[in-house]
Amino acid sequence: MTRSLYLFLTLVLAVMMTATAWADAVVGEKVFAKCKVCHTTAKGAPNRVGPNLFGIVGKGVAENTTFKYSPAMSALKGKKSWTEAELDVYLSNPKAKVAGTKMIFAGLPNKADRDNLIEWLKTQK
Ligand code: HEC
Repeated sequence: MTRSLYLFLTLVLAVMMTATAWADAVVGEKVFAKCKVCHTTAKGAPNRVGPNLFGIVGKGVAENTTFKYSPAMSALKGKKSWTEAELDVYLSNPKAKVAGTKMIFAGLPNKADRDNLIEWLKTQK
């Protein structure tokens, strides 16, 4: 009895450890190195090739009034927000998800990279 309980608990622990890959903002900041050439995240920091991303998680699409978005991105203004789910989809393959976007970035194919990055972006507010 004790032995089977022990086995059961070991199994539960093993499943938890593989299934729960907690998003990690510290790792996410490193992923952001790929975005830095074009984006700042500090409040009031200037736009680069892309818009400043301060407070981007939860914000409406194309709401940075100091940035000139592509017609494709502007068309989503007022219709979509950068929820974690939307960011996840967009960052997986920007050009495929927003046809006509001027964000020239291949995308982050790795789900863990996206999760960690979004976790870090959440701290930039
Ligand atoms: C080569 C430059 C470049 C790189 C690299 C880049 N972006 Fe962008 N990003 C842009 C441009 C330009 C836009 C505006 C797109 C448009 O108007 O179609 C944009 C738009 C965005 C938006 C929408 C912002 C808004 O206000 O609606 C998000 C979110 C975003 N980028 C996140 C990222 C993240 C996260 C990365 C890194 C994984 C990244 N970008 C990498 C240039 C870049």
